[in-house]
Formats: sequence, C-alpha cells, structure tokens
Amino acid sequence: MRIKIAPSVLSADFSKLGAELKKVERAGADLIHVDVMDGHFVPNITIGPVVVKYLRKATSLPLDVHLMIENPAKYVDDFVKAGSDMITVHIETLGLGELAAIAKKLKAKGVKLGISLNPATPLAKIKKTLPLVDFVLVMSVNPGFSGQAFIPGAIKKVKELRAIFKKDISVDGGINHQTAKLVRDAGANILAAGSYIFGAKNTKKAINSLRRGS
Ligand code: DX5
Ligand code: ZN
Repeated sequence: MRIKIAPSVLSADFSKLGAELKKVERAGADLIHVDVMDGHFVPNITIGPVVVKYLRKATSLPLDVHLMIENPAKYVDDFVKAGSDMITVHIETLGLGELAAIAKKLKAKGVKLGISLNPATPLAKIKKTLPLVDFVLVMSVNPGFSGQAFIPGAIKKVKELRAIFKKDISVDGGINHQTAKLVRDAGANILAAGSYIFGAKNTKKAINSLRRGS
C-alpha cells in the first residue's frame, strides 16, 4: 500500500496557516490532518468548523479531520459543510448505532469515515465498527497535545488490526523517522505527524523520511 503522510496543523503557526499548508503541500504531503479538540473529551481546546472552512480554501489536499470531542454526531454535519474529506470519531465517544447513522450520512456525502481508539482502549472495542468505516486511526499518544512520546503498544495493535482489516490504517502521535518505520512495518499506511514535520528545518526531507525511512 502507498504510504500517505498527513501533517497535523496543530503544530503549525496558526498566525499563517495558509502559508503553512502551502509549505507542507510543496514538500509532498498527501493529506492535511486537522485536530479538533473540545476541552471535554481531551484536556485541550483547538479549532472548530470555522477554521476548517478556511483551511479548505487554502489547500487542494484532502482534509483529514480528527474529532476529539464528545457527542461527535452533533457536529458531523458542520464539519462536512466546512469541507472535510475524511472524518474520524473516537470509539470512546459514541455507540454502534450512532456510528452507523454517521456512516450512512458520510457515505451519501462522499466523505470517508474513520474510527479511532485511545492507547488504553483495546482493539476488541472497535471490531464491530470495522464493516462501517473506511479507515482506522490508531492513537499512539493520549490525545490532547502534539509533541508527546510515542507509546509502543500501538505497534501490536496495528499488526493485529492489519491481519483482519484490509483498508487504510492510520497512526497518530509521536511519529518521527524511527517510529514511522515501526508502524509502517506493522502495516500502517497513513502517518499523521505534527511536531516532527512542522518542527523540521527541511520539510521535504522530513516528509520523505516518514514515507521511506531514509
Ligand atoms: C494528538 C493529536 C495528534 C498530534 C500529533 O492529540 O491527535 O494528531 O497533533 O502531534 P505529534 O506528531 O507532535 O505527536
Ligand atoms: Zn490527530
């Protein structure tokens, strides 16, 4: 599977988001990862649909919107309207019935649905959701902040998931050139990375190192 790199704008300079998007776009990014946090599901507050709407205008890359919020069903429409191409919800925030309703809605709009699980949540918790989703986003840090250390338990989760799931597997949190290799070898094909990409002197080199491990 082709490896896709998704820079997380959470590590970008928010005073010049348009320029930051162009920078990663020119450097070969495949997707733009957008971390939405509500101060309830996670201990941090970031951005909402208003910002997504303007990110949409600033790049032609698909927007991979990661909802770390309670009651995601209430907000999905707003994020679709704002121009999301992929929307990820957390298994810790909703039940199977709600997820099925979101899946139906997103399918009708041509938006991909992802399910995510926290480091402490066992893989068994998402098994029933797999027929409903287009991809799984495995968290390799506790959601809330960029710049945290990779939690190695994610590797085993990705391996076990890859054995039963043939679609896209994304890993998010603490990704650098070393941890990228570990999760690629385990079977992940989308890598979301914030601080490693936006903190790099050479953005293109950083993105290439995640894709190819050089
Ligand atoms: C964490 C977010 C991640 C984060 C990644 O809650 O979901 O997407 O921004 O940042 P790094 O790559 O710095 O861990
Ligand atoms: Zn994220």
